[in-house]
Amino acid sequence: MTPKTFKIKSFGCQMNVYDGERMAELLTSEGLSPADEAIEADLVVLNTCHIREKAAEKAYSDVGRLRREDGSKPLIALAGCVAQAEGAEAKRRSNMIDIVVGPQAYHRLPEMVAQATRGARPVDTDLPPLSKFEAFPQRRRANPSAFLTVQEGCDKFCTYCVVPYTRGAEISRPSGDILGEAQNLVDAGAREIVLLGQNVNAWSDGDRGLAELIRALARIDGLERIRYTTSHPVNMSDALIVAHGEVEKLMPYLHLPVQSGSSRILKAMNRSHTAESYLATIEKMRAARPDIAISGDFIVGFPGETEADFEATLQIVDAVRYASAYSFKYSPRPGTPAATMEGQIEREIMDDRLQRLQARITEHQLAFNRSKVGMDTQVLIERKGRHGRQMIGRSPWLQSVHVETDAEAGEILDVTLVAAGPNSMTGAARQREAA
Ligand code: 5AD
Ligand code: SF4
Repeated sequence: MTPKTFKIKSFGCQMNVYDGERMAELLTSEGLSPADEAIEADLVVLNTCHIREKAAEKAYSDVGRLRREDGSKPLIALAGCVAQAEGAEAKRRSNMIDIVVGPQAYHRLPEMVAQATRGARPVDTDLPPLSKFEAFPQRRRANPSAFLTVQEGCDKFCTYCVVPYTRGAEISRPSGDILGEAQNLVDAGAREIVLLGQNVNAWSDGDRGLAELIRALARIDGLERIRYTTSHPVNMSDALIVAHGEVEKLMPYLHLPVQSGSSRILKAMNRSHTAESYLATIEKMRAARPDIAISGDFIVGFPGETEADFEATLQIVDAVRYASAYSFKYSPRPGTPAATMEGQIEREIMDDRLQRLQARITEHQLAFNRSKVGMDTQVLIERKGRHGRQMIGRSPWLQSVHVETDAEAGEILDVTLVAAGPNSMTGAARQREAA
């Protein structure tokens, strides 16, 4: 039976969220309509993540839960990075899976659904770089803050990471395509665009880099805010740093993962930067844009990490004074060099280090948030809060701000930041309320 309704469930990173939106638009343009619950849908797309922990196991158990009480099941497409990593193996591991579609083959989804309807079990994990973007329909709906993928893949081969294998080689979309999609998104209601890429600051088109792209985007009327994520320290060009001091629409926030504060561990990770070169980049950035909020990612318990290496990580956290940061226990990924390195760290040690690191990060987050109390700023309202007139939006520094207001999603509201917690701020609306 040809499916009439679909549900897409996305896990993991923002790029998966973006891909999920594009697949939904594609299926809608084919005449399908969105279902509220996966279990009721005719077609379910599980858009999976493979970055850490038992990713594949989780995906298979999610598939298993789609069996309905009467024994029937929706058509099931395994998508995302687990699909890419598992390939045809996925069909052997679960006979409930009808379609296996990797991240660069989403444009073929309608065709694969038609094949599956006829009883086939198609698999496509080819990695042709750009075809999917050409096949997606135009953007018609956009959140106030919208994602836009400009770059995919990774050539850096950090020794712990699966991304070079699941997302393929580094590839940039042409600037004309990106500017066209950005204009679409703004016409559809976006006020902010977040440029996405696994190595977004490695984006290039001829001799133009991300800084030039950002300057071109800033000329779009109605687009008020620009962000980008995730950046690699070695691609943090002077031009991009300078843009942070000059382009008003470019928000004062930078997600720049360092992973470890120990240059010895960074070398084993094949990060191609040291703790010192990273700190030098942060210093330049702060010279260009003194109020910039720095965010990062950390891995604790990489093979061979000693207590002294870990102390160096705590030190870099103190030196950078992160406004926010994500930290993870090292997870051996099948097929990556680090998975077979000597000196794998015991669970208990990792747990202990993660706790200590997160406590330190929380202190800095709270200090950063407190430093903004009393400040007049602007909040892009994104959604309703939990009660009454409460709305939730983002400050320029990407803090989540709760504010009592009649303003709607998409409005940029003048607020005074009046209170700070470790994970969010309270704002008081100005002007509009008085009027
Ligand atoms: N184990 C733990 N964390 C990892 N990350 C990537 N690969 C691994 C792994 N094998 C983290 C890194 C990266 C973030 C997206 O996920 O910190 O920046
Ligand atoms: Fe997960 Fe990384 Fe793939 Fe994103 S790119 S879905 S975080 S494995």
